[in-house]
Amino acid sequence: MADYELVVAGGTVVTASDVFRADVGIAGGRIAAVGLDLKGDSRIEADGLLVMPGGVDSHCHIEQLRADGGADEETWVSGSTSALAGGTTSVITFSAQFKGRGILEPLAEYRRRASQAMVDYSFHQIIADASDEVIFKQIPEVAASGVRSLKVFLTYESSFIDDKQFLRVLAAARRNKMLVTVHCENYEAINWRTAALLAAGHVEPKYHAWSRPAMIEREATHRAIALAELVDTPIQVFHVSCPEVAAEITQAKARGLKVWGETCPQYFVLSASDMDRPGFEGAKFMCSPSPRDAAASAGLWDMVRMGTLDVVSSDHSGWGYNSPVGKRVHGTNAPFSDIPNGVPGLGSRLPILFSEGVGKGRIDLCQFVRLTSSNPAKLFGLSPRKGSITPGADADLVLWDPKKQVTITNETLQHVIDYTPYEGMEVTGWPVATIRRGEVAMRDGKVQAAPGSGRFLPRAPYALIEPAGRLPFGFDASAYEV
Ligand code: URP
Ligand code: ZN
Ligand code: ZN
Repeated sequence: MADYELVVAGGTVVTASDVFRADVGIAGGRIAAVGLDLKGDSRIEADGLLVMPGGVDSHCHIEQLRADGGADEETWVSGSTSALAGGTTSVITFSAQFKGRGILEPLAEYRRRASQAMVDYSFHQIIADASDEVIFKQIPEVAASGVRSLKVFLTYESSFIDDKQFLRVLAAARRNKMLVTVHCENYEAINWRTAALLAAGHVEPKYHAWSRPAMIEREATHRAIALAELVDTPIQVFHVSCPEVAAEITQAKARGLKVWGETCPQYFVLSASDMDRPGFEGAKFMCSPSPRDAAASAGLWDMVRMGTLDVVSSDHSGWGYNSPVGKRVHGTNAPFSDIPNGVPGLGSRLPILFSEGVGKGRIDLCQFVRLTSSNPAKLFGLSPRKGSITPGADADLVLWDPKKQVTITNETLQHVIDYTPYEGMEVTGWPVATIRRGEVAMRDGKVQAAPGSGRFLPRAPYALIEPAGRLPFGFDASAYEV
């Protein structure tokens, strides 16, 4: 009998810190060895391929529930298929709260639906209504169940929370050892500008960008950081769209605060001008914050290289263009303010970042692994089980052909969504096999994992998100039920 059940042989292993030729031996679904001339019961030849940790997408919306009881079109099966086709083996999605309701029932429903997953998964619990019941009773239960991150929105009619509620969420996170992720845009400012744009007859998709220029995101980011500093709770700023917003995070980091920043491929390759396409077509590129311009994208790469932005997620949204619950839900003459925000990107995240980043010399291979796998795994308490190629870690690998040229079409992404904003984009570098816990889950584009084979990833408290220990006047207001 061989030492390992499976050996990935002769590839170039890429970790968060090193690039080297080695075999990877797998046993019991875990990495058992990284070495030379390993012998396995079965073997995958990886000569000429990169062997990297499976992608960890820490921000994607899959089968998310709506207030009316409906759900996103992207199901756990279709979303997992797209993830595996694109080299991603773990995701963190969302459990939504609706105002006036609690968080335990929805989380149970998300857990039930995710039982169909083919990738491993966790959740961020959205807090849209910071009631006493939610803050003092339900959040502790959510944390105890292994969900260790909260998401708040500083905008959107349905989920916006004000500063007082945000402070209560930050305090609850501090008490329960959780990380808070934040959608930073100023709700009142967007509403005010939107009303004026509509009054002026400016209704087409391109005015989405006009309704929320960068200072609206910058102000909310500054405020989120200041309030997190007040409570001494770590936060991650989601989907940073431009360098002037990222600069707020740079300054926070320089002051020793535990503030992290995430960005997404759409902010590197899309721009506000994409929303200015004829007719309703611009809706395909509409997400929040808005994509900006080429200079902003160039500046974002700088912020990635500086380490200010250390996670690139997809922010995959789960609805299509023609679908009755998607972009056209209110018809093709709907004003921009009535068009659902968000773009799909689960399957295209790694290829676009690789091609635009590594392929164009903007980042190196180790940075690619850090941004797409190791850093999100560390930040969200999944490390070292996920995001690393080290003995004992889950054997989640993506075998990557760095030379393969692909034209992205919607079919290549294998999601249920009927479009991609990246249709026709040429990329160099593509996943040829995805291994999830030692099983070949995708080979040459064919996904072969069984629905229900994904596992929930419970997250225990971890050191990275412990408070920095810098309370103003040393007074811990979070210790009081206020
Ligand atoms: O436009 C976006 N990003 N939609 C998805 C929801 C969110 O804000 O993350
Ligand atoms: Zn958001
Ligand atoms: Zn999102």
